[in-house]
Amino acid sequence: MARGEAPERNAAGREGAPILEVRDLVARYGQITALKGISLTVNEGQIIALIGANGAGKSTTLRVISGLLRPATGDVLIQGRTIRWATPRAIVCMGVVHCPEGRRIFTRLTVLENLRLGHYTRGKTDLDPAMARVYKLFPILEERQSQLGGTLSGGEQQMLAIGRSLMLRPKLLLLDEPSLGLAPLLVQQIFETIAEINREGTSVLLVEQNANMALRMADRAYILETGRIALEGSGPDLLANDAVRKSYLGEL
Ligand SMILES: Nc1ncnc2c1ncn2[C@@H]1O[C@H](COP(=O)(O)OP(=O)(O)OP(=O)(O)O)[C@@H](O)[C@H]1O
Ligand SMILES: [Mg+2]
Repeated sequence: MARGEAPERNAAGREGAPILEVRDLVARYGQITALKGISLTVNEGQIIALIGANGAGKSTTLRVISGLLRPATGDVLIQGRTIRWATPRAIVCMGVVHCPEGRRIFTRLTVLENLRLGHYTRGKTDLDPAMARVYKLFPILEERQSQLGGTLSGGEQQMLAIGRSLMLRPKLLLLDEPSLGLAPLLVQQIFETIAEINREGTSVLLVEQNANMALRMADRAYILETGRIALEGSGPDLLANDAVRKSYLGEL
């Protein structure tokens, strides 16, 4: 596989039931309306990309889905159930886990402690298999398990952040800019791991500024522009779209 190419995926049979439906979602921070009525769907087993420039509302979308920000109007359904009254913790229990932008690991705790904390809502059940799965995906984390989070490299911190989210065994993983600030080789590795996580059965809503990689790996993508969905379509369709190539792929 050439460098910079997302791993090839077989898109056949990837139309499961909706795991996430966002309907006419409006979200505000005080006077600022960050989301102006967006709708999107993730079906079971899919990777769906959400692309957009700085300030478009990508992180806000994930914050509403994970219950950190209440919608002004509109709704979010997880497997057909509204989250309108659900706490962030209840949403985790519904199988939706948010890996936020900027990594947010505990810098003064070890890798092992970070992963154990990721598991806290599940009590003592399945701790070992969950840990084994994370170490299989990210062998470097096992090597570094006694090292403090804050002393890991940027790429390792990103792996730890994703690993910590996986400890909760999500049905749907919300990933906010996992490739940000990483060297090309590491970007490639993170995307390959996301594909692997998906193959093991986790649906993914992937927020990315690396539109090229995200569109190559996604079943479908939405382009967000200042709080509105400007375009949606399959990855190949959007990669071939002139407006997308100009605005998000730096071409033309
Ligand atoms: N806590 C906040 N208080 C007020 N305004 C906010 C807050 N967080 C975000 N915003 C505003 O909401 C809009 C959407 O922000 P958001 O973080 O969702 O964008 P984004 O698409 O994730 O951008 P980026 O690519 O830079 O991460 C922006 O105009 C931003 O300034
Ligand atoms: Mg953001």
